[in-house]
Amino acid sequence: MTNNSIASRFPDGVTWTRQLDIIQTRDAYADSARGVISEEQAHNAYTEVSSWAEYQASPLLRLSQLESHLNCQAIHYKDESVRFGLGSFKALGGAYAVLKYVAGRYLEHHGSPVLLERIRRGDIKDFAAGLKVVTATDGNHGRSVAWGAANAGCPCRIYIHAEVSQGREDAIKALGAEVIRIEGDYDESVRLCAAEAQQHGWQMISDTSYPGYTEIPSNVMAGYTVLATEVIEELKEPPTHLFLQAGVGGLAAAIAARFWMEYGADRPHITVVESSYSDCVLQSFLQQSPATVAIKEETIMAGLSCGEMSLLAWQILSGCCDQVMTISDEQVATTMKLFADGAMASSPVEAGECAVPGVLALMASVTDAPQDFRNARVLVLGCEGATDPDVYRRLLDSVA
Ligand SMILES: Cc1ncc(COP(=O)(O)O)c(C=O)c1O
Repeated sequence: MTNNSIASRFPDGVTWTRQLDIIQTRDAYADSARGVISEEQAHNAYTEVSSWAEYQASPLLRLSQLESHLNCQAIHYKDESVRFGLGSFKALGGAYAVLKYVAGRYLEHHGSPVLLERIRRGDIKDFAAGLKVVTATDGNHGRSVAWGAANAGCPCRIYIHAEVSQGREDAIKALGAEVIRIEGDYDESVRLCAAEAQQHGWQMISDTSYPGYTEIPSNVMAGYTVLATEVIEELKEPPTHLFLQAGVGGLAAAIAARFWMEYGADRPHITVVESSYSDCVLQSFLQQSPATVAIKEETIMAGLSCGEMSLLAWQILSGCCDQVMTISDEQVATTMKLFADGAMASSPVEAGECAVPGVLALMASVTDAPQDFRNARVLVLGCEGATDPDVYRRLLDSVA
């Protein structure tokens, strides 16, 4: 057994911090969820995004070594590290929502529709130049919005918080966006962005939602469903279990919704995975409404460091999430290293810090109840690659 085999790295298995089981009735796709993402919205997002010139379905890898280690039938890993050259699934959401926003404003002004592909090619950039888009981000979402804005020709301003790494800031600036760094945390950057957008008449393209602000985040989430549609098209047999990581819950809800609309009452078992430092989804289930938690410490899983659950995500997940699990930072870098060393799949995989919580939650579940996973076909989301190469390298180097 080599030092970097899964068994040697995790001789006693993996532990979760908290786990909450939720009793759900298994029904057809609910109207409350359809009100957030309809079948038509998911279909349109897929048709649109898959027509883009640089589009390629992201790889669906088999984690064959983890399968043997955990004794599972199949573990599929959706590798978003290559998505549109932006390094994460976020490339699907923010950019798509920017285009939908510009299209909406064009229709209002001109009384005739414009194809999103024409906006993306910059065909109406003189019109788009008058529409400023802004967002708050911990990195990946802002990069997606900046990319969509650059393609369309919109001016773009991105708000980041004190802990966002320099590498993520540089990646956003490289797309031509103006970047404002604040002293506070993610939720404060969201509030400042919203206040300044209102004051100046700029459009917020947020990946989170709250009462009175839902149309744009629902387009962001519709963009994310493309990832799930690709999995559904590729797999002959649907997964039995999904492990979906959450910050505000938008990604998890979008993927859950897409599987729920496809398979109805036969949908997979859905586990949402959070950092124990920012467990707003878990707290939402405890209080039965979207919760806000104060973030006392920042997790190294930067994209998951969100204290306020998205209202739209709650509308979906409250009806289909079967379990919420929180995990600590402790085993994140070790798991990234196992991916990088080729100890998870048949070859090395570039898995960033937000790409591994699903795998950790799966490992913790199997440690607890191996018999439940013998015939399991599991889907985990490799949401990001080395979106900040310096952070990625530092985390890998921290593993002895
Ligand atoms: C790489 C990555 N994974 C997961 C998430 C969580 O997504 P959401 O905030 O929609 O729950 C984020 C959020 O930024 C992210 O950047």
